[in-house]
Amino acid sequence: MIHTHATVVLNERLAPDYGRVRLCCEAGFAQARPGQFLMLGFPGAIDPLLRRPFSIHRLVSGADGSRWIEVLYKVVGKATRRLSQVSAGGVLSLLGPLGRGFQVPPGVGRLYCVAGGFGVAPFVFLAEWLQRQASPPAELQVFLGGRGKADLLCLADFERLGVPVRLTTDDGSCGDQCRVTDPFAEAVAQRPPDLVLACGPKAMLACVLGIVRAHRVACQVSIEAMMACGMGACLGCAVEGRRDPGRYLHACVDGPVFDADAVVLE
Ligand SMILES: Cc1cc2nc3c(=O)[nH]c(=O)nc-3n(C[C@H](O)[C@H](O)[C@H](O)COP(=O)(O)OP(=O)(O)OC[C@H]3O[C@@H](n4cnc5c(N)ncnc54)[C@H](O)[C@@H]3O)c2cc1C
Ligand code: FES
Repeated sequence: MIHTHATVVLNERLAPDYGRVRLCCEAGFAQARPGQFLMLGFPGAIDPLLRRPFSIHRLVSGADGSRWIEVLYKVVGKATRRLSQVSAGGVLSLLGPLGRGFQVPPGVGRLYCVAGGFGVAPFVFLAEWLQRQASPPAELQVFLGGRGKADLLCLADFERLGVPVRLTTDDGSCGDQCRVTDPFAEAVAQRPPDLVLACGPKAMLACVLGIVRAHRVACQVSIEAMMACGMGACLGCAVEGRRDPGRYLHACVDGPVFDADAVVLE
């Protein structure tokens, strides 16, 4: 784990409430895996005092050997608003890579990724990372849902990577007007995957779990618990365990990615 100050190289607005920030990072971040996260903060700030967790969205290497790490963010409160206002040259405090990421065994045939809103962030990293592996999945399909068109992010990234994306919105402004779990459930029934990975709101994850359990499909979910430290010290990110009832797991160190049968979300 690296604790450092990182310089902002670029901070771009993607949609009214969303942005993507690119940070210079140390070579050690090359070890990061899709699904792991960072804690980002503002050096010297009193409010917001605590760093906030964000999925690693992309690791990028420049032609000159520079290394950058990207985070996709939605503005929801003080820290994300301040993040949206940081310009190139600004400095953030960065802790990571943290947690347990997605585990995709070599030779998986068909992989489905289900994302809600900014839950898409780790899947761009995943798609890029899989393409560098010796035996990537034969088929990768993303299911992406949002409230409206402005909540459907990273479409150009998936197009560049040749990854098909099934889109849904609650208001029908883009893709099918339904929950993202509707086309996902149909696909699981018609063309069962070998593995499902999901990241998004808790209600979406609970629905995904219901579908994969009914079809006995392997699944991992990334859980967005509230986090204060990101390192297992504050015990603020407790998630109820399923294998050992009454035993609580901690999303920052035991997750944020968990096997579907390891946690209770319903
Ligand atoms: C492992 C992990 C990965 C994450 N990845 C991303 C990401 O890639 N992009 C992104 O935009 N956000 C991500 N989040 C959520 C992000 O950490 C919160 O949105 C952020 O901390 C909000 O800070 P704030 O000060 O702007 O808002 P606050 O004022 O702290 O909160 C504003 C609202 O957001 C809710 N909220 C705050 N933190 C969380 C949380 N962790 N989970 C659910 N609701 C929360 C609060 O209850 C409140 O309603 C991730 C969270 C976790 C745990
Ligand atoms: S965030 Fe502190 S223990 Fe998980």
